[in-house]
Amino acid sequence: MSTRPRHGLVSLRGLSRDRLEGLLDRAQSYVGSQVSSDLAGATVTTAFFEPSTRTRLSFERAAHRLGAHVMDLSPDLSSTTKGESFKDTILTLSAIGTDLFVVRHWLADAADLAAEWSGRPVINAGVGRREHPTQTLIDAMTLRQEFGHLDGLRMAIVGDISNSRVARGHLEAFPTLGVKLTLVGPTPFLPNHNPWGVRVSTALDDELGDVDVVYLLRMQNERGAADAIPADQSYARRYGMNAERLSMLKPAAVVMHPGPMNRGVEIDDAVADGERSLILEQVANGVPLRMAVIAEALGGWG
Ligand code: NCD
Repeated sequence: MSTRPRHGLVSLRGLSRDRLEGLLDRAQSYVGSQVSSDLAGATVTTAFFEPSTRTRLSFERAAHRLGAHVMDLSPDLSSTTKGESFKDTILTLSAIGTDLFVVRHWLADAADLAAEWSGRPVINAGVGRREHPTQTLIDAMTLRQEFGHLDGLRMAIVGDISNSRVARGHLEAFPTLGVKLTLVGPTPFLPNHNPWGVRVSTALDDELGDVDVVYLLRMQNERGAADAIPADQSYARRYGMNAERLSMLKPAAVVMHPGPMNRGVEIDDAVADGERSLILEQVANGVPLRMAVIAEALGGWG
């Protein structure tokens, strides 16, 4: 391993365009690459205190492809169920031997706390409603592959924005990368204030003809979305992406979703499985993008 500086990745806030593009370039260089031994001997610990399929498994696969060893803490099967605190869990995993933590947690400052307690780099794999930085970078990478550039693209982020850490990450990084964002959803799902100064709209159908990307969000019922607005057909009627709305898009426009999807609510089968969908490309890019972030965090950079 080289001795380059180590950076965890807790937030995209304030990151320069150069740093963001550097990560995207590195991720692109890992697409289709062979397994490497760049990080042989390193141990990456995944600690997911909320459910996950694609994020946890693609971090795991990314670490393996770099030659690192993975320790997975499954909180449901660990001493967390006996009341062990988050802090004691992090200290215990550090003592066993961890070079890097990948943390998903319901607490918005869990990644910062894990870094402070452990003294190790931490990658935020989705904390509270705060940010999900690697998802944002995956989406930037996927769009760059599709359009060849990001500058000047228009993206409508549609749905449960107030509960979405994915949307928060997008708001921190996409404007820096030159993407123009519009937040679209029913009033209870829109943020109360708009420090990013982006466009906000409650009328999806008025936006569709202007955008290059429709980015759909999941209705986060576990965070109370169903109480704010019933997650039923009325949401689907006003905001669900269906075949009719697809026909209102520009010819080259694309549809994205971070997963997991609620089919029939924010997205119909015809859209999810259709030609405009980049959803599985997003998933596939999770591995090379997370390889880049892990390699940067452990200083094993090229
Ligand atoms: C998201 C998450 O958990 O933050 N999913 C993901 O990681 N791809 C979004 C969601 O749960 O809706």
